[in-house]
Amino acid sequence: MSLPGYRQGGPAAQNVYGRKAGSIPSFKYSDALKGAKFTWDQNSLDRWLTNTESVVPDNDMDFHVPKADERADIIEYLRVSSGQWAGWSESILTGRQDGR
Ligand code: HEM
Repeated sequence: MSLPGYRQGGPAAQNVYGRKAGSIPSFKYSDALKGAKFTWDQNSLDRWLTNTESVVPDNDMDFHVPKADERADIIEYLRVSSGQWAGWSESILTGRQDGR
């Protein structure tokens, strides 16, 4: 995965979900992404992976994922690995089965 920070060995790829766009100080972003004022979430990541230009015009990422189910899997991975777990995953960890 080529997320900023990843090739530098940082935790950036794991924590992109819920993080402000263009906010890793050590990464040399495009001016476009540096100036972005939103947080990566389900919706922005889906649009970004469909067509980065529709989210941040003039960005430097020349890559997209045309298939919706593949985008969903990637985003789920990014969300879970950022610690933003859904309730059902939590119940597996706690062993609770009553949904609370
Ligand atoms: C599943 C694969 C990928 C995902 C989920 C992904 C996701 C992202 C995200 C969320 C950002 C913004 C990060 C931030 O705001 O800190 C980003 C930036 C970037 N990505 Fe990707 N990326 C993927 C694949 C790639 C690939 C294959 C390349 C290169 C061949 C690439 C090159 C870049 C570059 C250069 C940036 C910085 C863009 C800029 O500064 O304008 N990415 N990527």
